[in-house]
This record gives sequence, C-alpha cells and structure tokens, in this order.
Amino acid sequence: MRFRTLRDVDVSGKRVIVREDLNVPLADGHVADDTRIRAALETLRFLRKQGGRIAVLSHLGRPDGKIVPRLSLAPVARDLAALLGTTVEFAADCVGPLAHEAVSGLGDGDIVILENVRFHPEEERNDPDFARALASLGELYVDDAFGTAHRAHASTEGIAHLLPSVAGFLMQRELDALAALTTNPRRPFVCAIGGAKVKDKVGVFTQLLQRVSAFVVGGGMANTFLAAQGIDVGRSLRDDDLEPARGILQDAQRRSVPLHLPSDAVVAPSFNDDEAPQTVPIADVGTQMILDIGPRTADAYAAVLRDAKTIVFNGPMGVYEKPAYRNGTRVVGEAIAEATRHGATSVVGGGDAAAAAHMLGFAEAMTHVSTGGGATLEFLEGRTLPGVAALEASAT
Ligand code: 3PG
Repeated sequence: MRFRTLRDVDVSGKRVIVREDLNVPLADGHVADDTRIRAALETLRFLRKQGGRIAVLSHLGRPDGKIVPRLSLAPVARDLAALLGTTVEFAADCVGPLAHEAVSGLGDGDIVILENVRFHPEEERNDPDFARALASLGELYVDDAFGTAHRAHASTEGIAHLLPSVAGFLMQRELDALAALTTNPRRPFVCAIGGAKVKDKVGVFTQLLQRVSAFVVGGGMANTFLAAQGIDVGRSLRDDDLEPARGILQDAQRRSVPLHLPSDAVVAPSFNDDEAPQTVPIADVGTQMILDIGPRTADAYAAVLRDAKTIVFNGPMGVYEKPAYRNGTRVVGEAIAEATRHGATSVVGGGDAAAAAHMLGFAEAMTHVSTGGGATLEFLEGRTLPGVAALEASAT
C-alpha cells in the first residue's frame, strides 16, 4: 500500500482532522454497540499522547443532508469520553463558526467530536466547497474510517486532496488483514459465505473464485444455489432470478473449485417461535422454510474449514439471531476458531458476519474482525476504495 501513516508525521501542536467511522447503532439515545468506537481508540490515544489537537469527523446513519436530532453524534462523544477517560468536547456543527470555535479552543492532546457530516447534503455529493470548509479546520488529515472508505464523500475523499493525509491505525490494520486474503493467501483458502441473496454477492464470488480452494455456503443464498440445481426449497428465502447462481456454479465447476451446499437443513413452516423446527435431508424440504444448515452439513463444513490455512467468514449460515437456528453458524464459527488456533489466518467481514461472530462469541478467536460492512465487501470484490485511493494520491 502506497500511502503514509501516522508514524510518518509529526502531529505535536497541530490541528489534526481525524475521519472515523462512528456509525454505531443507538437505542434510546445511547450507544447500543461500541465496537466501532473501541476500534478508533488506538489512533485517538496515539494522537493525544503525541500532543495533536484532535477534531473527529464522522457520519451516523443516513440523514440525507438534513438535521435529524436522533442521529446526532452527541451520545457517541459521551461514550468516547468514558472510554478514553478524558473530556471529549462536542461541537454542534462540523463546518462554520461553531466548528472553528471548537477547534481553535483545543490545547495539545484535546479532542472534539464535530456533529454528523451527513447533516449537510454537500457531504455525500463530495462538494469541493464543503471539502474545503472541512479542510480549513486543520493542518493534517488522518483517515481512519475504513468502514466508509467505499464512499467518495467530502470527509472521506475530497478532503484528502486538500491537506497532507495519512492513514490511521485502524485503516492500516484493516487493509493489512484484508491483504492477507488477496496477496498470496496460504492454501487451502476457504470462504464460508452466507447472507440473504446471491445477487448481492456476485462480485465477491467472481473475485474469490480466482483465489479460494473451496466455498462453504449457507444462509438464504444457499437456497438460491440449490434451486438453481433444481432442488425444491419450498417456501425458503431465495432469489427469484436463478441465472447469477447458475453462472457462479458453472464458473466454480470450470475452475474445479468445490462450492459446498447443504445436504440437510433445519426447517419450519414459518419464522414463528412456536413452530417446532425439524431437521430434514435437503430433498425433503417440502413446503417448509429452510432456516439453518442441518447438523450433517455443519459437520461437513467444519471439516473443510479445520484444514484451511486462510479463511474468510462472510455471512451467517442461518437465522442465527434465533436460538433454534444458530447451530450452523456456531459450528462453522467454532471450526474457524480451531483452525485459527492451529495457525490459520481468519478474517470476518461484510454485513452480518461480524455481528454473528460477536453474538455467538467467536470474534475474539479470529485473526481479524473487520469493522467494515459494505467497504469489506467492495474490497473483496476487488474494487478500488475511494478513501484509500485518495490517501495513495496524497502520498505521491
Ligand atoms: C457502514 O455502516 O457500512 C458504514 O458506516 C457506511 O455507511 P453507509 O452505507 O450509510 O454509507
């Protein structure tokens, strides 16, 4: 990677603009999951220790360019203050007089969070004047917002062309971990992939088919592949259009990459908790819904994963939020944890995968759990992330 990092610059006494991805879930005005805030701490602690005057930018949710009070970053500032054990100021705007006043009041090592950048419609339009207004707040830009690196917005892309720009530690850690999947991954390289729809992950399949030794497939997308092979999946969630799945199956066959599909499933007549789930062979789903891979499938997938040297976990195997349908994801997660203990490199990323890993308690055992959803998927699709490209351009 050809960008500069925090280690390459002197921040002491400088006004430093740090873009973090503090887009965290809130409940009743409080932070419901602080994973992304914790992930930002290394960069922020380092900057404080080095005497930077720190102004943090982030978005929260999708306010669509309007001021939406429930998407204020104020609760995030409170949470960050508690985690850092210091005062964190909050400014009610990210540009203009309020922002300038807040930043000019900072001493060395002080920190302020500026209000949600997406309260301004110019942010998502990557408006040059807005990027200039943001840049005018500081002397150095640190991009630590890996989770937003796939967005070419003013605070993630435009600003990097206007100030000396470096990557923060989280950005660096994420890109290093993901590079292990794309640059000479150790083999066998296995992708455990799940989630709702094949059509959302065609790009990921297409890219990874060139690299992986095998796929193990669960979730709604497995139903689409099964249907594409002519298996009746009853009322299970599946894509209407089976063509993308057929294309991926053909490509996998041409490349001799095994794409493992369920041989049994946990089914129920509906999602209702009072329905008793049953385990059936995959040919006997009948009119029911598949809600998890079956135990035989889970064991077969675990055997493939235990032998792997590189693993990417990209989506749950079933409706893991409900106890009756989480066995598949749990067994697969435990097999990845075991492989990791024996030296494999394991990366969790993309949408629901990290949430499942945290909920089922195997996140800690992984080599890396990405904070990115869409950003991780786009990286795996081989796409250029505009936030990263802007850092690279700034280094030349
Ligand atoms: C995410 O949660 O994936 C990032 O914060 C990006 O959010 P967005 O999809 O609203 O741009």
